[in-house]
Amino acid sequence: MRIGVIYGGVSGEREVSLSTGKGVMNALREAGHDVVGVDFHPERIQEVVDLDVEVVFIGLHGKYGEDGRIQGLLELKGIPYVGSGVLASALAMDKSKAKQIFHQNGLTVAKSRTYPIGVYKSEAAIKEDIEANMRLPLVIKPNQEGSTLGLTIVKEESQLDEAIKVAVHSDTSILAEEFVYGREVTVAVMGAEGEEQSLPVIEIIPKNEYYDYESKYAVGGSEHICPAELDEELALKLQKQAVRAHQLLGCETYSRVDFIINEAGEPVILEVNTLPGMTPTSLFPDAANVIGLSYSEMIEKFIELTLQ
Ligand code: DAL
Ligand code: MG
Repeated sequence: MRIGVIYGGVSGEREVSLSTGKGVMNALREAGHDVVGVDFHPERIQEVVDLDVEVVFIGLHGKYGEDGRIQGLLELKGIPYVGSGVLASALAMDKSKAKQIFHQNGLTVAKSRTYPIGVYKSEAAIKEDIEANMRLPLVIKPNQEGSTLGLTIVKEESQLDEAIKVAVHSDTSILAEEFVYGREVTVAVMGAEGEEQSLPVIEIIPKNEYYDYESKYAVGGSEHICPAELDEELALKLQKQAVRAHQLLGCETYSRVDFIINEAGEPVILEVNTLPGMTPTSLFPDAANVIGLSYSEMIEKFIELTLQ
């Protein structure tokens, strides 16, 4: 089959996407497909429009790739693509909007406030509101970003100015979220619409203080325990909530849903990743492996689900 793979892009996660793209292209070529790779740049949109393929695998992460924009372009051209559509991608990328949907539907989210810089006008105004309404420790992050880029865990008030500045640098809207103490887990979801299955829960044990960029992508930066050592009831609850979150946003084919298990033993949903990393240190391929799917079989399965 002739398959397009779009990777690279211009978001902060470009390096991650180059690695995802390489992994996906190698897997597809090994399986005998004719692969056309495109290192995406918004100024070279024509390369995407001109793709003459049966299906596209989007190996992008973050802005333009994971937020519905490239999906919209492929829809206009009528090229089938793997994964979530325009709206689900945009909602999942907007952490604040996604959290509202989860909360309204009974999933537990961390208390947070969202600050569009256009509304608050200055970093000082954001700081003032945070100080008046939220308690430390906090997580300050760009509303639309991935791989923990621009994220700071603020434990002391003196860190707040810099944390806001760093987050604002990455996005026009920032999220101040109550820090949730607990165990970090993630659940991969895949399947046809309405028939999605959760893969076994993965617990992440980062070598650094938290699961930051280095812990995510340096070899040996974190340990992935899959299946996570959890009691059965909790594992099932996480798996059920992951599918629910995927469906609430209208995601398609696959996604990865991140949670913290708080100190009371309850899942707190962080976000849904519609284009989770497929790098050598990524989580989704590990979970697939546990259910007996090799990396190439997993990618083939996504293609099959897309074209069925
Ligand atoms: N945003 C990165 C790629 C992930 O969720 O895996
Ligand atoms: Mg993410």
